[in-house]
Amino acid sequence: MKKNKANTKLWGGRFEQPTDAFVELFTSSIGFDHRLYKHDIAGSIAHACMLNHVGVLTNAECKSIVTGLTDIQLDIERGEFAWSVSLEDVHMNIEARLIDRIGDVGKKLHTGRSRNDQIATDIRLYLRDEIDAIALEITRLQQALLDLAEKETQTIMPGFTHLQSAQPVTLGHHVMAWFEMLKRDAERLVDCKKRVNIMPLGAAALAGTSYPIDREYTAKLLDFDSVTENSLDAVSDRDFAIEFVSAASLIMMHLSRVSEELILWSSAQFNFIEIDDCFCTGSSIMPQKKNPDVPELVRGKTGRVNGHLVSLLTLMKGQPLAYNKDNQEDKEPLFDTVDTLKDSLHVYADMIPAIKINRDSMKNAALQGYSTATDLADYLVKKGVAFRDAHEIVGRAVQYAIKSNKELAAILLAEFKTFSDVIEKDVYDVLSLEGSVSARNHIGGTAPEQVSAAITRAKHWIKT
Ligand code: ARG
Repeated sequence: MKKNKANTKLWGGRFEQPTDAFVELFTSSIGFDHRLYKHDIAGSIAHACMLNHVGVLTNAECKSIVTGLTDIQLDIERGEFAWSVSLEDVHMNIEARLIDRIGDVGKKLHTGRSRNDQIATDIRLYLRDEIDAIALEITRLQQALLDLAEKETQTIMPGFTHLQSAQPVTLGHHVMAWFEMLKRDAERLVDCKKRVNIMPLGAAALAGTSYPIDREYTAKLLDFDSVTENSLDAVSDRDFAIEFVSAASLIMMHLSRVSEELILWSSAQFNFIEIDDCFCTGSSIMPQKKNPDVPELVRGKTGRVNGHLVSLLTLMKGQPLAYNKDNQEDKEPLFDTVDTLKDSLHVYADMIPAIKINRDSMKNAALQGYSTATDLADYLVKKGVAFRDAHEIVGRAVQYAIKSNKELAAILLAEFKTFSDVIEKDVYDVLSLEGSVSARNHIGGTAPEQVSAAITRAKHWIKT
């Protein structure tokens, strides 16, 4: 066949002019989509085998294509493949190389498909793998949190609302709250993967193909759970990517909240924890500084993942069916979300075991904030005082304690009696931090016994 000399692209037949050099650069995606090479080749091999299975390719043609593609993958992995901008994207770079390598038979690979269903398939294959890798990092981080919680079931710290000391809690309980956030995140990814793992291949450009393809056969080879139901939807749907980035934004938001706490806790004012030197940096001017860079960066990177979610939603909102070149813009936000999320989880899973806990500082902080005031109110209620009255009485006792600059537990019984005559010596049991936390002894409560039970349930959940 004679090649059009004016335009030598794989699609150049109907063109009288070559592509403008800047337009070539502007429209190409090879700069970022080459990372899909493995999935592109896997999809092409499965497609060729299916074409052979239905009799569109002979055994010899299929074999030659499969060998050619396998060799190309080796070349890429050895760093011996030069990606070309003029070949636009990963699909045409690989296809052109295949034709170079095995000759005219390589031109048969693209029978019955289009780059539109090809790219939709590639991203799904890619994302499926990445979701598995991300799930592993979540598990590793959760394991680190479980180990920490297990060591700190008895450690008492102030629990906060409005960032004001509220009631004492155990550190183990606080850490298990982080675990719960990640548990929902892991479940969301499992659910998202169900909609990722559906095969669009066979939709071709938009309407399907006139070849007698067997989509179920290809899907089986590629380990997809099922095939898409509608060809127009198949080439244009990017919901699965948006859904993933949305789940990723939630994970980053959770990591960012944990980061905020670690940053506060490692300040000299809190002094609850010390983050290991390997995860911090110093200041070039202030010699005393040790900065919590890792949590700060994770908090910062949350912004860019949120941005990617908005990018993708905006990318899709104005598109008519079916495929539009706009969709090429889905890759960079998606890839950067995967990289940012995976790295953030990775560094967190490494950092958590290297955090030193200052138990005394935590306990002293809990002692300072009148954090057992609710326990005193509950004590009065148990002695027959109505809760609203008890609240008022304790409020006055706290005001008295503040004015006389002492803790609730340091108020003498005779002084307590001036607030309520039902108060007896046993009040001091409920005013202790230990008494306060161990009294919250029900599923979901902060009592050490309950935290241990929650850890046991979590260990079971992580194994399933
Ligand atoms: N690079 C394109 C993308 O990322 C591949 C599909 C191109 N299809 C087309 N008809 N131009 O979406």
